[in-house]
Amino acid sequence: MKPKLYLLSLLMIFSCINLQAQTNVNVSFPVDSGSVKISKYIYSHFAEHLGRGIYDGFYVGDTSKIPNTHGVRNDVIAALKKMKIPALRWPGGCFADTYHWKDGIGPKDKRPSIVNRWWGGIVEDNSFGTNEFLNMCELLGADPYISGNVGSGTVQELSDWVSYVSSDNKNPMSDLRRVNGRDKPWNVKFWGIGNEAWGCGGNMAPDYYANEFRKYSTFMSGSDNTTKIYRIASGANSDDYNWTETLMKQIPPNLIEGIALHYYSVIDWDHKSSATKFNEQQYFTTMKRALFMDTLITKHSRIMDKYDPKKKIGLVVDEWGGWYDVERGTNPGFLFQQNTMRDAMIAGVTLNIFNNHCDRVRMANLAQCINVLQAVILTSGNKLILTPTYYVMEMYNVHQDATLLPIIINSDDYVLGDEKLSAVSVSASKDKNGVVHISLVNIDPDHVHKVKLNLNGKKFAAVTGRILASAKVQDYNSFDNPEKIKAETFNGAILKGEDLDVNMPGASVVVLTLN
Ligand code: AHR
Repeated sequence: MKPKLYLLSLLMIFSCINLQAQTNVNVSFPVDSGSVKISKYIYSHFAEHLGRGIYDGFYVGDTSKIPNTHGVRNDVIAALKKMKIPALRWPGGCFADTYHWKDGIGPKDKRPSIVNRWWGGIVEDNSFGTNEFLNMCELLGADPYISGNVGSGTVQELSDWVSYVSSDNKNPMSDLRRVNGRDKPWNVKFWGIGNEAWGCGGNMAPDYYANEFRKYSTFMSGSDNTTKIYRIASGANSDDYNWTETLMKQIPPNLIEGIALHYYSVIDWDHKSSATKFNEQQYFTTMKRALFMDTLITKHSRIMDKYDPKKKIGLVVDEWGGWYDVERGTNPGFLFQQNTMRDAMIAGVTLNIFNNHCDRVRMANLAQCINVLQAVILTSGNKLILTPTYYVMEMYNVHQDATLLPIIINSDDYVLGDEKLSAVSVSASKDKNGVVHISLVNIDPDHVHKVKLNLNGKKFAAVTGRILASAKVQDYNSFDNPEKIKAETFNGAILKGEDLDVNMPGASVVVLTLN
C-alpha cells in the first residue's frame, strides 16, 4: 500500500473507534438534598391530527384486524404505559385552531368531514374526537391536555368544551355528554388557549393575543366544573422574548397558570436534511441547536421571574424535538421521519435541561408521539417499532415526580473543527424511596468520556445502570431490524468510596441507580 493511502486508511479506522478522552468530566453532587420536584409532566407527549399520528398511529378503529381496545392499538397502549406517559396534548398544533370539537362527537356516521388544511389537505372524517381521545387517555393512564381553538373558534365554543368534559351539574353540555354515552366527567385539567398564535394560530401580535387570552380564560373557569383548570397561553416561538414579556406583563396572574414555548432542533428551516443520512457537521449542528434549549429556558425564565418571582406560572415547552426532511416517498404534509441515535442524544440532553430547570419548567411535550417528527413509536400496518427516543423516555421515567439534586458539572468538550460543545450533560434526582438516579449523556460520537462524580460524603452501597448506545449515530430501528437499538445493562460505573467513576461510551445515554 502506498504510504499516503496507508495513512488515510489508518485515519479512517481511528475515526470509527471510540477513543478515550484525555481529561475527566467532574461532577459534584449537592451537599443538601434538594427541594424542587421534577414534575412528571416534563415527560409528556403530543398527538396532532397530522399524517399518521392519530389514524394508523394510535387509532385503527374497533373493526380493525389489528388488536385494539375501542379502536386504540393494544401494542401502543402497552408501550406507552411501560414508558409511563404522564400527559398527552391534543388535537394540535396548527390543527387545533381549525378544529371545532362538536364535529367530533355523537354517532360517527353523522359527524361531518372536513379538510385538514394544514397537513396534506386530506379529508378528516372526525371519527376520532373528544370521547375517543379522553377514553384513550384513561386507557394510557395519561392526563389529557386539550388545545382549544382561538384562531377560528369562539369563546362560547371553548367554554362549552370545558363544560362538556368537566361539568358534573345538569346543563346543556353535560347533558350532551350523557347522550353520547358518558355519565361522569373526565375532569380535564390542562387547557391550551390557542396554538402558535403568532403564526398558524392567527398571526396575532402579542398585545392582541394577550387580550384574546384574557377573554377566553375568563369564560373557561366556571363554578360547574369539577376540576381546577390549568390554562396555558400560546407561548413564544423560540427566542421571541418580547412575546413572553408582553404576555407576562398584560395577563393578570389569576387568569393564567402556564405559558408555552415552542422550539425545534432544526439545522436550517430551508434545508432540514435527511433524518438518517447526515454527516458529522450536521450532527454537531443538531446538537448545538438542542443545547440551545438551556439558553432559551434561562432567558424566558428570567423574564417570568420579573413578573412572577414566586414561580407560580409554569413554563410549558409543549412542542420540542428534532425536525428533518420527510422520508423519501412519503407525503410531505405528514412529517414522517426515522429516528436515530442522534434523536436519542437530543432527547437525553433536552430532558436533562428540563430536569435542571424544573423550578420553572412544569410540563414539556415531545413532538410528536407516533409516526410524526421525533416519534417514540413508528407503525406500519400491524407492525410497531420503538425508536431510540422511546428508550430514553423510558429510561428517564425514574425522574418523574422525584426531587431534583442540583448538580455542578465541568465537562470536557466535544470538538469539531474550530467549534466545541460540552460533551457530557447530567441531571440527578432522589425518588420518594430515597433512591438516587443520575442520567448522563455523552454527545461526542467518537470519544469515551470518563466522568468522575464527587458524591460529597454521600454513602451508597451499590450502583446499577442502563445504557442506550449503538455503533453509529446514524443507526436506527427499522421494521426489518426492530431491536437493533435498545436499552441494555450498563456495567461501566464503579463506586470508589466517595467517588463514582463512569466511562461514558461515544454517543451514549446512561441512567444510573444508586442505592
Ligand atoms: O408539530 C408540528 C407543527 O409544528 C405544529 O402543528 C405546530 O404547532 C408547529 O409549528
